[in-house]
Order: sequence, then structure tokens, then C-alpha cells
Amino acid sequence: MPQVCTPVYKRGTVGKGVLTPLAAKATASSSPPEPTAATAFIAGPSGLACEQVPLARIADEIGTPAYVYSSAAVREQYRILSEAVGNLRHRLHYSVKANSSRAILELLRELGAGLDIVSGGELYRALKAGFKGADVVFSGVGKTEREMEEALAAGVLLFNVESEEELHVLDRVALRLGMRAPVALRVNPEVLVDTPHPYTRTGEKGMKFGIPFDEALAVAATAIALPNIDLLGLDMHVGSQISQFAPYEVGIKRLLHLRTEIERGGKAKLTHLDIGGGLAVTYNAETEVDVGKFGEVIREIVGGTGLNIIIEPGRFLVGNAGVLLTRVLYRKRSGGKQFIITDAGMTELLRPSHYNAFHRIEALVPNGRTTVADVVGPVCESGDFLALDRQVDDAAPGDILAVRSTGAYGFVMASNYNSRPKPPEVLVDGSRFAVVTERESYADLVRGERADLDWRES
Ligand SMILES: Cc1ncc(COP(=O)(O)O)c(C=O)c1O
Repeated sequence: MPQVCTPVYKRGTVGKGVLTPLAAKATASSSPPEPTAATAFIAGPSGLACEQVPLARIADEIGTPAYVYSSAAVREQYRILSEAVGNLRHRLHYSVKANSSRAILELLRELGAGLDIVSGGELYRALKAGFKGADVVFSGVGKTEREMEEALAAGVLLFNVESEEELHVLDRVALRLGMRAPVALRVNPEVLVDTPHPYTRTGEKGMKFGIPFDEALAVAATAIALPNIDLLGLDMHVGSQISQFAPYEVGIKRLLHLRTEIERGGKAKLTHLDIGGGLAVTYNAETEVDVGKFGEVIREIVGGTGLNIIIEPGRFLVGNAGVLLTRVLYRKRSGGKQFIITDAGMTELLRPSHYNAFHRIEALVPNGRTTVADVVGPVCESGDFLALDRQVDDAAPGDILAVRSTGAYGFVMASNYNSRPKPPEVLVDGSRFAVVTERESYADLVRGERADLDWRES
């Protein structure tokens, strides 16, 4: 057995579903603390383990590539953030896009989370995982009428509306259904956001997201005037992998100022303020985000407002709770460089090629030697890599590598490019594990394709 902590699950957080009965047996006095995102994956005598399960065992039984998640790490991240925000009137609405696996959604539902969704597909997943519409806020810059209808029928808590046109369409759809649409305006607070990649910034001037700040008051007036819209809140989401609090501080203050302006005249009373997600996790050697400080900052600005605060964390809850297991297929040298060719690539983990993102890579059982190499996948693209020019374990064909911190924006961005079936997802809980998403088969790849074509005449 590897030397890892035995998880202690908080009573009351364990319900039916993915969590294990082991939880009920553990007591705070008899067991070491719950593994955190940082300690859920720890080396033991059988190599790297997730909680109490050696990852080599999972690779043997389930095969590679495969995603593996630690339920203890997700629970712990949720607890840390909830405690940081403290007694503020708030709810954490987990951002489904980060990892939409049903098992993860059920786990978070059992902890009390709501959800932030961006599509009808995510709404479908949310309902399947046992959430009610009232647990859900619906974000997204391009909602279709069909998605609006589905969300209205489900009774979502709020539509985070991103443009005046969207507001008019939503008003029409609500009329058609004989309903009223609860709305928060997603406003672009136009703040400076420092993130590792420009693609993860959303709250700067000129971005496609949100209503431009100087138009927000006029759009609010429209929302108030529309007969089937209830304007209930304001919303922002400034970006992702944010480790400074200034964008939140400045953005929230701008939104609170806007709230005062909107409420002046007494035609609207806002009840909700959604401050988005974006909290960073540690991928390499970055300084960890001071979540306690984040909580203090938020409480100080919104504490006395009487508003219901919505926070939409994605990456923070699941990013460091996952690894991608991949097998080394080949080694080769080319142009004076070493290559480690693995059975996972951009089709399983897009972040390195899309965001130039850094993920730590380590052998499950290191042999003590290292080399500088490009770790590349099997996909027919030069941009298919997991790491470039990186000092890594000098792994040989057959060795299994763990690509760390892949719990967020990993599996959800996987594709079938090169007709590669998507990998399975495995959830670990203490000393046991379960496949929560099956590996795709070749038949899955062609499921929607027709052999007999139903031609239509024009
Ligand atoms: C509207 C919205 N909310 C929340 C999130 C979650 O961000 P993160 O995973 O960085 O917490 C995103 C991610 O892009 C988003 O677009």
C-alpha cells in the first residue's frame, strides 16, 4: 500500500451516488486529515497513487490513456473555498465546463454546490446529475432559442444575459412559454486581467463577453421595460487562472456602482450578484492563491450589500484533482532532440497546444534518470505535444506517465480528431475506484453516421 493519507469525509456531505460508505466509518480523531488537491496524488511503494489506489493498478485494469480524479481532493477544494467565503450569503455554482462528468457533478451536488452552465447540453447533464433548475445559472454569449426554452422550462435561477439582443429574444421566448425570465446582466467590467494566456481573459474592454460597461445602464432600462423579463441581478466573469484579486475588487465595485444607478428610481430591486469564477490553481511552481485572502476581499466589498453572492469556480475545484495517465509508446531522436512518444496527445489534453499550458509530467515509477525531451502524442499534427523541451523522467516504452493537474479543461476538451476514441474517466474514493465514463469504442466514432442516405429534393 502506498503511504498516502486516509481520507476523512465530513459527516453530512456523503449521500448516495459516487461517494463511498467508507466515509461514514471514518472519524476525525482516528484518521489523518482529508487529502488535499496537493496531497491526493503522492508517491508510495507501488509508485504514484491517487488517495490509496496505486495509479499503476488503474492503468493495468483500465488501460491508457485514462483520466483519474480524486474525490477527496474535490471535496477538500470545495471546503476550502466555502470556508474562505465564510458566512457571506453565497452559493458556489460550479462551472460545469471545467469538468462535466456526471460523477463530478453528483459529488459537488452532495456538497451543496449549484451550477453555472453555458449550453443546453450542460443543462441536460445538470438535470441528469440530480440538480434542479433552481440550482443553475445559465451563462454564455450565444444562447439559442431552444436552449432558452429548455432553461425556462427547467426553472433556472438566472439567465446571465450578455447583450441587448439576447434580452429581446429571451423576452419573446418567455412570452411564447407564458413565463417570466429571471435575468442577471453579464456586464463586462473592463478591468485589466493578468492570466497566463490571452485566451483566458474575458473581462477586458473589447472582448466578446458581457455587455460593454458604458451600455449596461441602458440595457438594464430595457430589461426593466420588457414585459416578460425580471431583472434580478448583475454578473461578471473576468477570466480564468487568476491569481490576483484586483480584477475582482475593481470589477465588483464597478458592478455595485451600476446596481445603485439601476435601482435609482425604484423600478428594480436587484437580489443577486454573480462574481464569476477564475481562481487559479498551481500547475508548476506558482505561488498558491491565498483563498482566505480572496474570501476576505470579497466579504469586505459585498458583505454589507444584502445581495446573494454567486461564485462560479471551475478550475479551482477540480483542476488539481485529476491526472491523465498515458503510456510511453516509443522513444526517438531527431535533429539532436529526444522525443518521448505517448499514447495521449492533443486529442486527450488540448491545453498544451491550445494555451501553451504547462502540466507536470512524471513517471508513475521513476527510474531515477532524467532527460530533456519533447513529450508528444500520436496525432498527425506538429502542434500535438504534452510538453516541449522539458526535463522529464527518462521513461522507456511501456512506462506509464501521469500528466498532472488535468482535472479541469482536460477530458471536456478531448476530441475524436484522427478518429481517436475518447479516453475513460475514473473516480477514486479512498481505497477504491470506479470507471465513471467508459472508453469510447470504434463503433462510438461512427454512431451518428448513416449508411443509407435519406436524400431530400430541393
Ligand atoms: C462564465 C464563466 N464562469 C465561470 C467560469 C469558470 O472559470 P474557472 O474554471 O477559471 O473558475 C468560466 C470559464 O471560462 C466562465 O466562462
